[in-house]
Amino acid sequence: MIVIPGPSSLGLGWRVAEKLDLEPQPVEHRVFPDGESYIKLTKPVAGEKVVIVQTTAPNPDTRFMQLLLIARTAKDFGASSIVAVIPYLAYARQDKRFTDLEALSLDVIFGMLECSGVTDLITVNIHNESSTRSVEAKHNMKFHNISAVPLLAEYLKGQGFDGAYSLSPDKGAIYIAEAASKVLGGGYNHFDKTRHRETGEITLAVKDLNVKGRKAVVFDDMISSGGTMAKAVEALIAQGAEKVAAACTHVLYMPGAEEKIRKAGADPIIATNTIETPFSRVSIAGLIADKLRELT
Ligand code: R5P
Repeated sequence: MIVIPGPSSLGLGWRVAEKLDLEPQPVEHRVFPDGESYIKLTKPVAGEKVVIVQTTAPNPDTRFMQLLLIARTAKDFGASSIVAVIPYLAYARQDKRFTDLEALSLDVIFGMLECSGVTDLITVNIHNESSTRSVEAKHNMKFHNISAVPLLAEYLKGQGFDGAYSLSPDKGAIYIAEAASKVLGGGYNHFDKTRHRETGEITLAVKDLNVKGRKAVVFDDMISSGGTMAKAVEALIAQGAEKVAAACTHVLYMPGAEEKIRKAGADPIIATNTIETPFSRVSIAGLIADKLRELT
């Protein structure tokens, strides 16, 4: 097996290779002044299973293009199979057509990966696993989704959040709160978030949660603008929660997001290293290495 830490996941890819007792094989790459990417493999891949670790944020389009160039080159030079580890998969939120004539972006992404020779795709806490399974059914590429939520919850347990109440901002993410609650104890529930499809405005329907004097954690798959997390944290503080943490798998780190969430009262804000940010407190390298071992 050859592990290639892609340009966007050098640190993570390196750690995954080390966990598998393999020498990481980063590619030679550069971005030309016009924005095009150049890629060259640094080791022959004929007959090998090639694993590419490349997250797709920030700059999702460039990161996808680099991944496709690596995968297709590995295919051209005879790799026996190609596993794309895309810890944060951009475009996954457009996993269906919400209105007529829209692009079904996730389907396009699957098609491009498949054409480039990818045989297996590994993601972490994809936005909606069941919608992604419907997309997978149209392609000849196996999809594996792993969850970092127990690791996030374990981390918070060590930070004094043992027994905290776990909340998700909407019903779709209740499985995250439920998984976290198995580690933290303390029960779980969800808010009901709606987002206006055109203006992006978020409304949170809040119920009485009985959190007065308790610790609570809001768990979500991702923080982008921070609007969702801020509203949920604010609601818990307004109901008298003693301390509220904000936890998610992927932080896209959009300008203003951190300020919004801190102003709402969250402390700490934590995430994994699917995208390296100052909030990356939990490494998913071990989870990915375990999944790769399972696939061999
Ligand atoms: C959406 O359903 C996701 O689970 C997240 O809640 C959302 O993407 C977060 O976005 P933002 O930080 O912009 O509110």
